[in-house]
Amino acid sequence: MNTGDKIKSKTASWSFRGDTFKKFDDHINKSVPLYNECRDLYLKISDFFLQDKSRVIDIGSSTGTFLIELINRHKKNDKKFSCEGYDTVKEMIDYSKKKAGKNSKIKFFKKDVTLINFKKSCIVSSFYTLQFIPQNKRQFLINKIYKELNWGGAFFLVEKVRGPDARFQDILNQIYMEYKIDKGYSSSEILSKSKSLKGVLEPFSTKGNLDMLKRAGFKDVISIFKYGPFEGFIAIK
Ligand SMILES: C[S@@+](CC[C@H](N)C(=O)[O-])C[C@H]1O[C@@H](n2cnc3c(N)ncnc32)[C@H](O)[C@@H]1O
Repeated sequence: MNTGDKIKSKTASWSFRGDTFKKFDDHINKSVPLYNECRDLYLKISDFFLQDKSRVIDIGSSTGTFLIELINRHKKNDKKFSCEGYDTVKEMIDYSKKKAGKNSKIKFFKKDVTLINFKKSCIVSSFYTLQFIPQNKRQFLINKIYKELNWGGAFFLVEKVRGPDARFQDILNQIYMEYKIDKGYSSSEILSKSKSLKGVLEPFSTKGNLDMLKRAGFKDVISIFKYGPFEGFIAIK
């Protein structure tokens, strides 16, 4: 099935492996509303949370864009910090390493984020990644992030979200479909992508995400970004 931007997939089998990394930046930029603006917003927010002698960890780093831009933004900053990006897809990691060049402040690792530690981190970011982590592992992961994040550190969470009930979900679905048509995707590409994501991309609602953050221990949480079915939170420890 052609899911758009020359990316092929099968029903319930969406994957970031193979040569998807070559088309990924274009594909996500086109399919996720305000993708660049949202990243830019969180780069600005990073100014409030970067701590000396700490780490910034990006989970599901894909092609590494957020961390590379974060390093560029703070290159004149006197604080000593390092950046680590984690992704399970080798091709994404190899590509990110190439993109980052010789910058010693940034490292990319091929590793499942449910198995890493977050000690000494001042920022943990997850842009459109948690939605791909099996639902039964999400709470455990957020608990670990909360427990190991530095005091005063922040978790940046951006997700596709479901509506609070069937009526709102229907509205969100339809406006997103129209958004994709406006971006030039054909009806058959939209249907194929949605079939390929069955059981792979499982968003929670806004409340589902907020409840999960609260259960982990986060008390200071706001929703800072929202466009249709996409939402970004800041959760401060
Ligand atoms: C939608 S992409 C993330 C996009 C990226 N954060 C950005 O803003 O451009 C989701 C990424 O999460 C990765 N991923 C999914 N499950 C993972 C896991 N358990 N551990 C690490 N990476 C994972 C996928 O390989 C994929 O590259």
